[in-house]
Amino acid sequence: MSKKILLEHIATPNLTNIDVYMGTGGYKSVEKAVKTMTPDEVTEEVKKSGLRGRGGAGFPTGMKWSFLAKNTGKPSYLVCNADESEPGTFKDRYLMEHNPHSLIEGMITSSYALGANTSYIYMRGEFTWIFPILEKAIDEAYSKGFLGKNILGSDYSLDLYMHPGGGAYICGEETALLESLEGKRGNPRIKPPFPAVWGLYGCPTVVNNVETIADVPWIVNHGGDEFAKIGIGRSTGTKLISACGNINKPGVYEIELGLPVEEFIFSDEYCGGIAGGKKMKAVVAGGSSVPILPAELILKTAKGEPRLMTYESLSDGGFATGTMLGSGGFIVFDENACIVRNTWNFTQFYHHESCGQCSPCREGTGWMEKVLHRIENGHGNMRDIDLLVDVARKIEGNTICPLGDAAAWPVASAIRHFRHEFEYHILHPDKVKDRNHAPVPTLQEA
Ligand SMILES: Cc1cc2nc3c(=O)[nH]c(=O)nc-3n(C[C@H](O)[C@H](O)[C@H](O)COP(=O)(O)O)c2cc1C
Ligand code: SF4
Repeated sequence: MSKKILLEHIATPNLTNIDVYMGTGGYKSVEKAVKTMTPDEVTEEVKKSGLRGRGGAGFPTGMKWSFLAKNTGKPSYLVCNADESEPGTFKDRYLMEHNPHSLIEGMITSSYALGANTSYIYMRGEFTWIFPILEKAIDEAYSKGFLGKNILGSDYSLDLYMHPGGGAYICGEETALLESLEGKRGNPRIKPPFPAVWGLYGCPTVVNNVETIADVPWIVNHGGDEFAKIGIGRSTGTKLISACGNINKPGVYEIELGLPVEEFIFSDEYCGGIAGGKKMKAVVAGGSSVPILPAELILKTAKGEPRLMTYESLSDGGFATGTMLGSGGFIVFDENACIVRNTWNFTQFYHHESCGQCSPCREGTGWMEKVLHRIENGHGNMRDIDLLVDVARKIEGNTICPLGDAAAWPVASAIRHFRHEFEYHILHPDKVKDRNHAPVPTLQEA
């Protein structure tokens, strides 16, 4: 059994109750931090831990915290990004629903480190059933003196607020989230300035993912060095992975970073292999935004080494043969899956969710959706494939926020690795006209 940090006590009945949570050692980090450590010492432990942001980009958390502007005469804020709307990613909601105090404890210790006296959890609007769970947990934390004035008799005070979003994927982008929290339309801001300097209400702000923040109590309790011993190289600690698609055991798993991808997919401890004994065709390893990889490339790097669940190993080979750990949304496709249909499906999502500020994203996602629709429905022509590549290339790197890249990469990578499936759709329109058409033959059979 691998090391568990976030899900260690997940099977404990009534873990959402603060007394039960405290019975598992919960809230010890708050006492340790506010009574025995300075805020800088907490940040130092997080730096030593090597913890990287679990929201997708993998930016080192301690370094991000140290960028927070100091002595500005303005308040500082910690904002938790609980928007989790990326297709394939459902780990944060699982943690918040089943272990809400782990996030609240993390918010308190992290806010202390950042000198924030007011903090927010910005939650995806659709998580209506999780909202009351967290509100109740926050009330319990106030009643035990972990929140409010002079926490546990110290001179540190913190108020924590929940804020529901309106249900837009773009509000997960940190500056769009801040706009939305300020009561405006969730449009991403042009950066710089970054939130560490100009964040919520123009004040220094750190935005961190749910899982990132929930890791902090363990780091405070055990020390950054202990956290850094878990994992491999610059990928330290554990990671929540939400696994779905054509596997035997979909669900949320906590892995030690460095686990071989093959073990994750095929061992009974995790996904339990491909459903129905079928062959695996492809994997999207880090949520819908990351490049799709065919079976042989997700199991081994281009150099022939076993691919590991780490930031570095998954991206080995760059965009030619690699992908990204991203937000940990692991989607597995079996031999019957239609890559063209899936790419069209993802692209509809990005077109719908584009905020429309930049022309390449606003127009390009619409173009890609239309072209993919006609290919999938048997009305495409061969020039469409290069047209898609061209549009994707023109979006990539030319937008205000990374949603443009997130829309371009799935299309470009699907064509890079599964071009023959696109060609098959164009050459055999009669065979693909049904929504649930027969599997597209492999490259060898086509
Ligand atoms: C379109 C888009 C959606 C995003 N959605 C989320 C999200 O739901 N949750 C999240 O933590 N980060 C999301 N991010 C990343 C955030 O902008 C930001 O990098 C992250 O919250 C930082 O936290 P971390 O350093 O702890 O990972 C999104 C980014 C983009 C471009
Ligand atoms: S890339 Fe897309 S979502 Fe991001 S700011 Fe531009 S139009 Fe909006």
